[in-house]
Amino acid sequence: MTVTIRRVGPCLAGEVDGIDMREPLTPEEVSAIHGGMDRYAVLVFRDQRIDDALQLAFTQSLGEIEHAIGTSLRAASDYRLPTTFADVSNLDRNNAPFERDDRRRLFAIGNRLWHSDSSFKTTPAKYSLLRAVSIPSKGGDTQFADMRAAYDALDEETKAQVEDLVCEHSQMFSRQVIGFFDFTDEERQRFKPVRQCLVRTHPVTGRKSLYLSSHAGGILGWPIPEARGFLRDLIEHATQREFVYTHKWRVGDLVMWDNRQTMHRARPFPVHEPRDMRRTTLAGDGPTVAQAA
Ligand code: OGA
Ligand code: MN
Repeated sequence: MTVTIRRVGPCLAGEVDGIDMREPLTPEEVSAIHGGMDRYAVLVFRDQRIDDALQLAFTQSLGEIEHAIGTSLRAASDYRLPTTFADVSNLDRNNAPFERDDRRRLFAIGNRLWHSDSSFKTTPAKYSLLRAVSIPSKGGDTQFADMRAAYDALDEETKAQVEDLVCEHSQMFSRQVIGFFDFTDEERQRFKPVRQCLVRTHPVTGRKSLYLSSHAGGILGWPIPEARGFLRDLIEHATQREFVYTHKWRVGDLVMWDNRQTMHRARPFPVHEPRDMRRTTLAGDGPTVAQAA
């Protein structure tokens, strides 16, 4: 089948027709999907009747996957899914929704802040692919913001100011923002900050984008309050309505986004309703900047 893509967002996001993830991808389809990602940064695939194995096969036909190990507060013994998946659900091992005050749930509320996946890893993620297995009766949308358009809309002075800045990213910073400080010593060690440049250039299109994320809690060489204020202003700028696509989930949707060019966030939903979302992730090429010795 031929692949067609229809724009559904203001500047990012396209809905793809002509892909059935139950079938292996042809080389033409693989290049149409990568081309679509370069252009739209977010692609929506509706009505995919697939299971975990087919999601994984689809993901691996587009590149090398990133494993999800130790990135949440779930202990390994408590994983519901294999480490080829990031478990973005609110469900425990027995598929029961977490209690309201469960620390695994509270930590995951950090996903409601604008972020880019794995920006807290030295090699951050390339694409994320999220599939809706079950959805709540209301709420639970996911929003995406176009960091290329946000960069383009900066004034020249700000473009010059951000050009060479390097930020420190950690899941501890994003959780501080929502008032979650309850980390063990082991978690503090595991969530040590990494460095990321603030402006990225897309390797294919050459477009620049703001590499923002709520995990960013400092700028090298800047006093912390000044850095946080500046980053907060940039995020406010970058997530204006004209740069945002809101995805309303249906069961069977798979949405794929480019973490190098977008931010995203989850929206709230009723606490006791299951929301089973499963993410596979494609690994990035390497660090965006040299790390501290
Ligand atoms: C993710 C994520 C948002 C959502 O999968 O990385 O942030 O709406 N998901 O669940
Ligand atoms: Mn995410």
